[in-house]
Amino acid sequence: MLSTRPDRSGDRVVVLSIAIAIVAAATALPSVSAEPARGGPREGGNLAQEPQLGLPETPQNLQVLPADMSTRAIVGVMRGFATALGVRCIYCHVGDDPNDLSTTDFVSDEREAKRVARVMMGMVRTVNDELLEPGLTEIGRTESLAVRCATCHHGNSRPVSLGDVLAESLENDGIEAMLAHYDSLRGDNYGGWSYDFSETALLQLAGRFARTGNIEAAMAAIDKNLEFHPDSATTRVTQGQLLAQAEDFEGAVAAFQACLEANPEIAFCQQMIDRINQREQ
Ligand code: HEC
Ligand code: HEC
Repeated sequence: MLSTRPDRSGDRVVVLSIAIAIVAAATALPSVSAEPARGGPREGGNLAQEPQLGLPETPQNLQVLPADMSTRAIVGVMRGFATALGVRCIYCHVGDDPNDLSTTDFVSDEREAKRVARVMMGMVRTVNDELLEPGLTEIGRTESLAVRCATCHHGNSRPVSLGDVLAESLENDGIEAMLAHYDSLRGDNYGGWSYDFSETALLQLAGRFARTGNIEAAMAAIDKNLEFHPDSATTRVTQGQLLAQAEDFEGAVAAFQACLEANPEIAFCQQMIDRINQREQ
């Protein structure tokens, strides 16, 4: 699937999306399978054979996909979209109950998300067919990966990074709210593919806040990191640098000492301690 290079007449977007959809169906990802507990008909693998579930028997309003595509193949592509964006069908199609597709109007273009999705389909096709593959072929590569919805979205309807989300949260609601937001996102998404909960992500965020002069927010990001990585020398280095920048030299020395306890080989931490001590004399 990764090195897929359909023949040039083939529709790359479609072929890849179908491949993704097949994988999604095979692994029964929760974001596209219905919860039967809600009582609606199952949005199961045999959807395409049940045109009475609001699905048009033949497509009425395809503008990007081939006009004669079978319902089964369309649903395959659609499952790929839903999985990549972490949404259900009615995110893009007019309907009230995600588990009852009999009331869903798939033909309508009323929801903006559907119209945006069409723009995205065109973008992905242009990138793959006109930029990526020809560009790589030109420099002698014979195989290329293709850009897919998931390449950018990885489970988010709006492809934003954890850092962007938290920076927005800080700007709108302040430090405490940002930290609470981090905890709730982590609780809901840890282990998933939507956000990066690594130590590096919070360090980068601390750097971003520090560059804009918000040392307090940067320190909050560091403290949050220490909550999950109490023995991290790397986080202590950044903590020490931030405290030194804020002229809390005592705190900075303590941070660099903690750095050395975590990893005595980091000469930089000893150098910083020495420099701060000299400066104070
Ligand atoms: C991210 C948005 C998005 C999601 C989620 C989505 N769709 Fe679609 N769907 C579209 C777009 C865009 C089209 C039109 C494609 C085109 O113009 O070629 C479409 C078209 C369709 C059509 C053809 C309608 C017609 O007759 O023209 C069907 C059927 C359909 N989707 C079913 C589904 C099902 C079932 C799901 C859930 C598994 C789903 N879609 C999820 C965006 C979405
Ligand atoms: C190159 C990265 C990239 C790829 C690939 C991509 N998207 Fe997007 N998508 C974005 C960005 C960026 C936005 C946010 C646009 C904005 O609102 O400013 C977005 C927004 C969207 C939205 C609107 C979300 C909302 O509610 O505001 C939908 C729907 C969507 N994309 C569907 C898709 C589908 C379906 C595919 C695959 C055919 C796809 N995208 C591929 C980058 C991408």
